[in-house]
Amino acid sequence: MKNALDSAGCEERCKNRPRSHCFPGKSVVPETQANPRPDNSRLSNGLGFASLFNIIDRAYSRGTGFMDITKFAIPEIIFGRGSLNYAGQCALRLGAKKVFLVSDEGIEEVGWLQRLMDVLEKEGIKWVYYPGVTSNPRDFQVEQGAQLYSKNGTDVIIAIGGGSAMDTAKGIAIIASNGGRIRDYEGANRVQRPLPPMMLITTTAGSGSDISQFCIITDMKRGVKMSIITRTLVPNISIVDPLILRTKTESLIIQSAVDALAHAIEAYMSRIASPFTEIHSLRAIDLILANLQRAVATRSLDSLEQLSIASVSASMAFSNAGLGAEHALAHALGGHFDMRHGIVHPILLTSVMRFNMGINPQRMADIGRLILKRQVGSDEDTALAGIEKLEEFFASFDVALRLSQLIPESERHHLEPLCKMAVHDACNLTNPRPATWEEFYRICEEVW
Ligand SMILES: [Fe+2]
Repeated sequence: MKNALDSAGCEERCKNRPRSHCFPGKSVVPETQANPRPDNSRLSNGLGFASLFNIIDRAYSRGTGFMDITKFAIPEIIFGRGSLNYAGQCALRLGAKKVFLVSDEGIEEVGWLQRLMDVLEKEGIKWVYYPGVTSNPRDFQVEQGAQLYSKNGTDVIIAIGGGSAMDTAKGIAIIASNGGRIRDYEGANRVQRPLPPMMLITTTAGSGSDISQFCIITDMKRGVKMSIITRTLVPNISIVDPLILRTKTESLIIQSAVDALAHAIEAYMSRIASPFTEIHSLRAIDLILANLQRAVATRSLDSLEQLSIASVSASMAFSNAGLGAEHALAHALGGHFDMRHGIVHPILLTSVMRFNMGINPQRMADIGRLILKRQVGSDEDTALAGIEKLEEFFASFDVALRLSQLIPESERHHLEPLCKMAVHDACNLTNPRPATWEEFYRICEEVW
């Protein structure tokens, strides 16, 4: 099977193809998979499954009538309130005797790291702890962690934290087993040797690193976030415990959820989306729109749990369908300005959706119908009305809506080189049409 993301001729071949024909790595069917309950009564104000399938049916009726070969890779997912308590048993199943723990100060302070250590101790598992995680994890942190992993004779790698901790753990796993520098693996399918067993425990509902075959590490020399994409980065086990979300701040809940929303929308529009990713994209969009405001206002465990389900769905979608131009630009800006990843989506996402409109207004209209819960005139009208409604949704939160709120005027001159970098981000390849640097620049100007 050829790889869509690192094949030189891919752009031309994929240009007019509605869905996937290839994807990184070898196909693996996971041994077990937790089953998020298909209970319509828990969809809150969102659409039921029947409506989601109707939207997909409409999308397919416009297609060619057959689909290309596709694949879908996910970890074993242990989902539910209190699932952190199963971490020790899961680690034993992976052969753990002395694990390599990756986390950060924030998780230490709220007590989740100690809780994990207690759970491991109960099963007689030892650990070595690497606390060297910051937001936007850096290349040298990953390389230091890999040295520590190798020196201490550890086996299973376990991360507990947000995307930064989990991406750091993935980077450590790559270097520990493949050697070299982390920048050697930028792009798709550059990792040749198998990684140590990995178990990732997410403490947010958004990054999706615990599910995905993505790892984002900042190259400090170039000041850019590198996308590393390979099947082997899908962890063996992902533990998603919605109880952990109760200790998150309001801003972190919003940032994580809008990240998941961007994942879902970009995966749905991706040139290698498949029926297996589309249903998860639509489900995630629906759940986030229905639950985020209530989750922020009330912190109800039910709505936080729905956001966790949404995040898992969005992650299953983007891990297998890829992302798009919005993430390519977000990576370039985030790497240079050291921004938290979640703060740029309310600024960039709708602008990139308008940019993609012309290529596939029908698919954008699918998203519009989901947001609006109805058709408004033509598909194009529905798509545009959906984008406007999404802008209103973002404006209902205390978030930045213009780039100038994050970047001082004196730094604006960096935008041109950053747009030139974004062109080469792997996420740009799966956008409905890969953006040129001039187009990225126009988007930045539009949202300044
Ligand atoms: Fe993201």
